[in-house]
Amino acid sequence: MREVVVTGGGTGIGYAIAAAFVSLGDRVTITGRREHVLKEAAGRLGASYVAFDAARPVAVKEALDELPVRVDVLVNNAGGNTNLDRQQAPELIDVAEAWWANLNANLLSAVLVTTALLPRMPKGARIISIGSIAARGTGSGSYGAAKAAVESWTADLAAELGPRGITANVVAPGIVVDTEFFRGRLTEEGIRARVENTRNGRPGTPADVADTVLFVASRGARHLTGQVIHLNGGAYLGR
Ligand SMILES: NC(=O)c1ccc[n+]([C@@H]2O[C@H](COP(=O)([O-])OP(=O)(O)OC[C@H]3O[C@@H](n4cnc5c(N)ncnc54)[C@H](OP(=O)(O)O)[C@@H]3O)[C@@H](O)[C@H]2O)c1
Repeated sequence: MREVVVTGGGTGIGYAIAAAFVSLGDRVTITGRREHVLKEAAGRLGASYVAFDAARPVAVKEALDELPVRVDVLVNNAGGNTNLDRQQAPELIDVAEAWWANLNANLLSAVLVTTALLPRMPKGARIISIGSIAARGTGSGSYGAAKAAVESWTADLAAELGPRGITANVVAPGIVVDTEFFRGRLTEEGIRARVENTRNGRPGTPADVADTVLFVASRGARHLTGQVIHLNGGAYLGR
């Protein structure tokens, strides 16, 4: 039985990923900052949960006691576009804080949790980080830059961990509906505009991402490392 940790597993894409591993009989631990969300989700899933802020070094360190002592699969899914929660402001300090927020939520969260759990990963373990089409597009500012940094860091990680038989990859979705990402503010028009760029004429679902993550975590993907897997209905062609 594999031990799987899914950060941000209480909602949206992370929840679907956790459910997919549970359905295979794996032991799953979900994490996030909101304990009540995690408790409810873990109960529904039949998973364990640990509440902590993945972007805070002290919080990650403190969470180690409650996290599994062996980690076969780590899914760095926690994150989102923190600009959706804040007003644009002209002062340089506001600009700096907005950039730090996205880098913390999307890059630091993955780097800190991975670094903390690496000593617990056996040969053959898998690290899968959720990136975004925003890393390759335009108009996403600090969010796209943070997800691009996740890709660059993953390339290094694959080289560093290859000798230990551990793979590191990014799964980078395009628009995915039915999550808390857009804070309930995504309109039909907003979805239509994004779907227009796809080849298959539909938005992604959390289950689309979960199925791809299951493959990357499977034995069949053992030679796949250092890659960015673009999952967007062809909206961005990662050739
Ligand atoms: N939806 C899309 O269109 C889309 C497209 C491409 C990529 N993505 C990426 O997919 C991932 C999952 O997003 P989603 O769409 O499923 O949105 P979501 O429902 O908002 O999920 C994000 C999860 O991350 C957790 N989280 C955020 N910051 C955290 C932190 N500092 N420490 C611990 N947990 C944290 C949140 O829980 P708490 O708030 O309780 O901490 C939440 O459960 C994100 O990395 C996002 O950037 C989403």
